[in-house]
Amino acid sequence: MSKDGLILPKDFPQLLNDTFLRAARGEETEHVPVWCMRQAGRYLPEFRESRAGRDFFETCRSPEACCELTLQPLRRFPFDAAIIFSDILVIPQALGMDVQMVQGKGPTFPEPLKEPEDLQRLQAKVDVEKELGYVFRAITLTRHKIEGKVPLIGFTGAPWTLMSYMIEGGGSNTHSKAKRWLYRHPEASHMLLKMLTDVIVEYLLGQVAAGAQALQVFESHAGILGPVEFKEFSLPYLRDIARRVKDKLKEAGQDVPMIVFAKDAHYGLEDLSQSYYEVVGLDWTIDPRSARERTGGKVSLQGNMDPCALYSPKERISDIVKKMVEGFGTRGYIANLGHGLYPDMDPENVGAFVEAVHQHSKQMNKRS
Ligand code: CP3
Repeated sequence: MSKDGLILPKDFPQLLNDTFLRAARGEETEHVPVWCMRQAGRYLPEFRESRAGRDFFETCRSPEACCELTLQPLRRFPFDAAIIFSDILVIPQALGMDVQMVQGKGPTFPEPLKEPEDLQRLQAKVDVEKELGYVFRAITLTRHKIEGKVPLIGFTGAPWTLMSYMIEGGGSNTHSKAKRWLYRHPEASHMLLKMLTDVIVEYLLGQVAAGAQALQVFESHAGILGPVEFKEFSLPYLRDIARRVKDKLKEAGQDVPMIVFAKDAHYGLEDLSQSYYEVVGLDWTIDPRSARERTGGKVSLQGNMDPCALYSPKERISDIVKKMVEGFGTRGYIANLGHGLYPDMDPENVGAFVEAVHQHSKQMNKRS
């Protein structure tokens, strides 16, 4: 970003496949674009080999490693977008918290936030360029190395999801420690959510300045909230993020589509479709036709095959994809899974998923 806050374009290779960006804006495309959450992941043997013996967050801090891991799935499958290899938990780290990736356990905070006084441990003013510049450098490098093949998606965790990790100290079934804050310390909760929102806005703008062509906000823990808590502790911040990022980009004459993925937040679908995001990502528990009805053509939709459907034989995957694409329709639709790929999934079946999306959507477009 330049000194006056304007975002400067870099000399990137020309984009050759803009299907994903057009679908995000609701424009017509010759086929439905497709990518997968966690497409850079442990289901790929080359990913496991590259990651072997190296600490997870050390990998995240190496632009070269992030670039290589981002590009790996593109060498195998004709995905229509790439997502930068990184993690949502780099933000709590930027705020001064220690986060480790423990094998067999997942992300772990040795000293999670326990009481509101612990907020004082967090860095009050984060220098985003200094703390997270390594992500920006990974994005710029990858945007060059991707050679315009497909657009590059940047991402962040949403405030509530990050807050829940910071208090739980890791994964949780009930999220009761984090939810205790919402009921017992609502003011401190809002203070933390606001603090995270401010960093996220700057972080996303930095990603665009570095070369990200779309942005996804992961509210992975939305489903643990009920509709009332969602409206108070998640939705306002999701909206604030999109509005502030969009306003700033507009000043710079830029337009970058934004995707919100609030997992398991059925009750929030109508609100999410009126929250300044161009695309609403869906988990697999929502029926495509009813999602279309409830969002009333206001946004493009992304999702939502049950990741476990990839355990089916290939012919069955094709049938499931066909029904899904028919349900969403081919316009304003980006095919994806309803959540990330799991490590034990067969890369061949991922290929079958991608191919089925392209094939069925092309046929449907021909017929119409
Ligand atoms: O391909 C991609 O999707 C891009 C990279 C990406 C990763 N994490 C890499 C990763 C993205 C977009 C994320 C986001 C992320 N990280 C989320 C939001 C999406 C979601 O799943 O709901 C969350 C909740 C996290 C936190 C996190 N990081 C978890 C729960 C785990 C899994 C821990 C485990 O052991 O299963 C991680 C680790 C992680 N992040 C891996 C990858 C590829 C696997 C670990 C490894 O490579 O060693």
